[in-house]
Amino acid sequence: MISYSQLFSSVLALAGSTLALTPLEVKGRDFVNSDNGDRFQIIGVDYQPGGSSGFTAKLDPLSDGKICLRDAALMQRLGINTIRVYNLEPSLNHDECASIFNAAGIYMILDVSNPLEGGYLDRSAPWTTYSAIYYKQVFGIIEGFKNYDNLLGFFAGNEVINEDATYSAPKYMRAVVRDMKDYIAKNSDRAIPVGYSAADIRDILMDTVHYFECDLKNSTSSRADFFGLNSYSWCGKSSYKASGYDVLTEDFSNATIPVFFSEYGCNEVKPRVFTEVQALYGEEMTQAFSGGLVYEWTQEDNEYGLVSANDSDTITMLIDYANFQNQLGQLDMDRITSSNSSQTSVKAEECSASLVTHKSFYNAWDLPEVPSKVSDYIKNGLPNAPTGKLVSVSSTTIPQKVYDHNGKEVSDVKFEVKSGANTPSSTSGSSSSGSSSGSSSSSSGTSTSTNAASINGGSPSMVLGGMGGFFMLLASLL
Ligand SMILES: *[C@@H]1O[C@H](CO)[C@@H](O)[C@H](O)[C@H]1NC(C)=O
Ligand SMILES: *[C@@H]1O[C@H](CO)[C@@H](O)[C@H](O)[C@H]1NC(C)=O
Ligand SMILES: *[C@@H]1O[C@H](CO)[C@@H](O)[C@H](O)[C@H]1NC(C)=O
Ligand SMILES: *[C@@H]1O[C@H](CO)[C@@H](O)[C@H](O)[C@H]1NC(C)=O
Repeated sequence: MISYSQLFSSVLALAGSTLALTPLEVKGRDFVNSDNGDRFQIIGVDYQPGGSSGFTAKLDPLSDGKICLRDAALMQRLGINTIRVYNLEPSLNHDECASIFNAAGIYMILDVSNPLEGGYLDRSAPWTTYSAIYYKQVFGIIEGFKNYDNLLGFFAGNEVINEDATYSAPKYMRAVVRDMKDYIAKNSDRAIPVGYSAADIRDILMDTVHYFECDLKNSTSSRADFFGLNSYSWCGKSSYKASGYDVLTEDFSNATIPVFFSEYGCNEVKPRVFTEVQALYGEEMTQAFSGGLVYEWTQEDNEYGLVSANDSDTITMLIDYANFQNQLGQLDMDRITSSNSSQTSVKAEECSASLVTHKSFYNAWDLPEVPSKVSDYIKNGLPNAPTGKLVSVSSTTIPQKVYDHNGKEVSDVKFEVKSGANTPSSTSGSSSSGSSSGSSSSSSGTSTSTNAASINGGSPSMVLGGMGGFFMLLASLL
């Protein structure tokens, strides 16, 4: 008889032999495994338990190991290999959570800003926040996470360039990319990729990607390493054409850096059936895109969840979880991971005003100078910054009861320690179905940003965050 508390006996040796994912690197327009050269496509979920308001200076999504363990086990079962986390606090200890996701075969893409005061670049007047105060947050996140091998990359900004942004916002954003990459080059053992996550504002989308991906001779480090697009244009049982995915694929076919959906999963038609998964990872789209991340893991007020964490003792896998799992189970992983030298050998264009077509979009690359204190940080490292490291994940249990969408308790959820990236299981055995009676809604490929796309970049709350603080290195999980 299986008790509600399921036992995960996964033992990972400590010290020199901690299993770790192989760091990924950017080659041309693909992410590749730095060890064997295999292509890596993101099969991901945006991870924001508690929603954007669930974040405080004392608790972020990667600071509670018990919750991470529960979620990592259910994500493994789902078949994903990447999470994106929006709001993080550098003074908290993230070793347990990072190590759990690492052991689960799950990479992390992290936003460096948070909504606390001093934690973000003000899109309406970036010069007021482009300062050493902001860089304590940005470089603090780099310090905190740089030692985790399953760190895929950092987002320097999320939807900073939108309808509310001031004209010169792009050059400040590109300067943040530059400063982060200069910091990493000087203070990290490996070249952690740095990218930007854009709202799906079709009028300026191509200008935005061109602005970030072009090569600037006098500031080569300011070039973004990857580009994320928050896109909600496929709703219900839409199609490649009706959703405008065909236009996106054509538009990004010449990108010179990896491009992926940093958010997707329109919920105008419920439950979500995720038929876009077959398009996104199909032969046409994978030449332009490196996968994507479904918005989002937990059910919040905006109803984008795959699971519902009703209270601290129970978690329910919603119908959307089952439907997404079912779609992932159909992917051809051999094709998805096979390398392609014409993808990895593309070269950047040189920056020039002719790359920008829209009048309202900034078309020069006269980047702001690095503030002198920030320059000191880059040269010498951020003083007193806590630095994380992978720790052992051993003999762990999840105390939560797990239910499926029919309310049935599920007892065979297992946390497995992986030596490589997690993959979907084609024998997922999910009893899911697209039980929506097929209302197929589609939005044209010319939509501007959606409600969903503005959930995260959102209006900052004015709580003062503690900057310093101690960082405890825990030697084991429980
Ligand atoms: C991509 O590049 C090819 C070859 O240079 C060009 O013919 C095509 O118009 C470009 N497509 C886009 C969308 O820029
Ligand atoms: C390799 O990539 C190129 C350019 O994206 C594409 O045209 C070609 O079909 C790909 N080859 C394979 C075998 O997928
Ligand atoms: C948890 O919440 C979901 C969604 O609101 C609901 O369907 C489910 O019955 C709840 N489960 C439990 C155990 O309370
Ligand atoms: C670097 O080059 C850009 C584009 O040519 C130019 O606008 C900018 O002023 C140059 N910056 C410096 C510091 O020379």
